[in-house]
Amino acid sequence: MCGIVGYIGPKQAQNILLEGLSKLEYRGYDSAGLAVYNGETIGVSKSKGRLSVLEDKLKVQGLPGSLGIGHTRWATHGKPSDANSHPHVDGAGRFAVVHNGIIENYIELKEELIAKGHVFTSETDTEVIAKLLAELWDGDLVSTVKKVVSRLEGAYALGIISEYEPDKMVAVRQASPLVVGLGKEENFIASDIPAILKHTRDVHILEDGEMAVLTAEGVTLMKTDGTPVSREPMHVQWDVETAEKGGYDHFMMKEIHEQPKAIRDTLSGRVKEGLVDLTREVGLSEEEIRGIEKIHFVACGTAYHAGLVGKYVMEDLARIPVETDIASEYRYRNPIITDKTLVVVISQSGETADTLAALREAKKHGARVVAITNVVGSSVAREADDVIITWAGPEIAVASTKAYTSQLIAIYLLGLYFAKIRGTRPVEELKEIVKHLTELPGKAEEVLQTEQIVAEFARSIANHEHLFFLGRGLDYAVALEGSLKLKEISYIHSEAYAAGELKHGTLALIEENIPVIALATQQYIYDKMVSNIQEVKARGANVLGLAAEGDTELIKSVDRVIHIPKTIDLLMPVLTVIPLQLLAYYACTERGYDVDKPRNLAKSVTVE
Ligand code: AGP
Ligand code: GLU
Repeated sequence: MCGIVGYIGPKQAQNILLEGLSKLEYRGYDSAGLAVYNGETIGVSKSKGRLSVLEDKLKVQGLPGSLGIGHTRWATHGKPSDANSHPHVDGAGRFAVVHNGIIENYIELKEELIAKGHVFTSETDTEVIAKLLAELWDGDLVSTVKKVVSRLEGAYALGIISEYEPDKMVAVRQASPLVVGLGKEENFIASDIPAILKHTRDVHILEDGEMAVLTAEGVTLMKTDGTPVSREPMHVQWDVETAEKGGYDHFMMKEIHEQPKAIRDTLSGRVKEGLVDLTREVGLSEEEIRGIEKIHFVACGTAYHAGLVGKYVMEDLARIPVETDIASEYRYRNPIITDKTLVVVISQSGETADTLAALREAKKHGARVVAITNVVGSSVAREADDVIITWAGPEIAVASTKAYTSQLIAIYLLGLYFAKIRGTRPVEELKEIVKHLTELPGKAEEVLQTEQIVAEFARSIANHEHLFFLGRGLDYAVALEGSLKLKEISYIHSEAYAAGELKHGTLALIEENIPVIALATQQYIYDKMVSNIQEVKARGANVLGLAAEGDTELIKSVDRVIHIPKTIDLLMPVLTVIPLQLLAYYACTERGYDVDKPRNLAKSVTVE
C-alpha cells in the first residue's frame, strides 16, 4: 500500500521527494502529494492521479524548502481525490502528516475531535492524526507524537513535520513498512529502500512500535513508549530492481510471502467480541439479511475460484442456496434474479470488464450487489451497493496470490456475519470458527516453510507437459486454483478434477509417471479421497499428496506428502493454496519463463 518519502538536510526537498516517490510507483497508487516547510509555513501540494499531475502543478507553483514529506496514496478510506490525498494538515496548518496503513479506530477519534471543534476536510482515516497532533500539542514534537500514537489502533507508518520544530522530522512504524536512510548532513525516511538508494545505502529498518527522530545531523531511534533503541544500520547491497521486490527475485514471490499480512489486514477491525461485525461495510438491515433467498457469486479467473469456495462456505454457515458463476457466462445467460437475490461480485482490480457488466446486469434486475475488491474507488467498488475491501495491498504480478487468500477471508467474514444474524449456527460455534480464522496469519507463515520441498517437486515435474490436480469438496475448489496458477505461468497443461469424477472419463489419461497433485485436507471426506488416490496410483501416477499436519496415513498411498498446519476443514483453502502457488512459481522458474508477466495475459482485463 502506497509510499512515503521524507527529507531533512541542506538541499531543496521537492525534487528529492518527487524522485523518491517515482521509485515507489511500482507499489501502486492513485494520488500523490508533498508538504515542504519553507522557513515560515508548511506548503502543501497534492492531487489525484499520476505523479506527473503533481509534477505539473509544482512547475506552476513549487514548494521551496529543505524539510519535507511526500506520499503516494493507495486509498483505503475515502475515494481517490485531491482532498483525500496526503499530506494531511491540522486546521492551522502547523502539522503535516503522511500515513501508510489504516487507523481502525478513526471513527471514534473523528467524532471526539469534531466535538472539540476540529473541522475535517477529507474522508480519510489519516486526517484524525493531523488533528490529534494539534489537539494534543504540548510544546514538544516528540512527546506530542507519542501521545498521538498512544491513541491510534491499526496499522501505520507515519512521517510528521511541524512548523513549531522545523529542525526535525518524526517517523513512526506500526505494522506498515518504514525505513530511515542515513546520509551526510541529511537524512531520509521512506516506505521502501529504492526511494532513497540514490542518496544512501545505510539504513535502519524500523520495527513495529518504534519511532525515529531525524535532524539533518543525526537520527535517534526509540520505542513509542520512550525506551531508547540502539541498532547498527544495515548496509544495502541490492540494486534498485531487487530492492523494489523486497529482496525477492519476483513480485509474485514477494506477494506470496505477503499473505500472512494480507490475511491479518483483511481481518482487522472486522472482528468484535469474538464475532464478525460488517455493519460498516454491508448496509443491509438484519431483516434484509434474513430475507435473502439466494446468493450469486460472480467473478473471473482466480476471483471466480474464490467464489467457488464461497459456495461451500455460505451454504454451510448461513444456509443460503448459492450459485457461483463466471462473469462472462452470467451476464449473457439470463439468470434468475429477484430483489431477494444477493449478488456478490469478486474482483481484485475492480475493473474487470466482464465482472463489471455482470454487476450492472444484476442491478438492472433488482439485485442488491456486494463487491469484494482490492481497490478502493475502482469501478466495481463505485457501482456496487456495498463494498468489502480486501486489504491485500497492490498486487503487481499477473498471477494473483495474496488477492485470492484475502478474498477468501472476506468471504468467511461475510458468511460468519450472515450466520450470526440469521441464527443458523450457535454463537459459541461461530466464536470457535472466528478464533480459528484469527489464527490463520500465523499458520500461513508456517506453510511458507514448505517452500524447499515444493521447489524440489517442481523440479521433478518441470519437464512434463500434462498433470492433474485432484480434490473433493473445498479441496476441489483449491485444486482448480492451483491448476490455473500452474498453467498461467509455467505453461504446463493441467486439469483439476473432483476426485470422484475421475473414473467417468479422465482416468483414461492416467499413465505411467504422470504427475498428480492430490489434496486430502478435508477430514470428512478423507477416506474417499484416499481411495481415489489409489485409483491413480494403481495406474502408475507419481503422486504428491497434501495433507493436514499430524496425518501419518497418506504417505502410504502417495510418493511424497506436504503437511499443512491444521485448522478446521472450512478454513483449509487459505493454507492449502499456498504450496500450490509456490509450485507454479518454481515450475515456471525451472522452465525459465517470465514469472511476473506471463505471455498473452494482462493484470487487469478491461476488455470483454
Ligand atoms: C489470476 O492469476 C489471473 N491473472 C486472473 O484469472 C484474474 O484473477 C482475473 O482476470 C480476474 O481479475 P480481477 O480479480 O481483477 O477481476
Ligand atoms: N488509510 C489511508 C487513506 O486511505 C492511507 C492509505 C495508504 O496507505 O495509502 O488515505
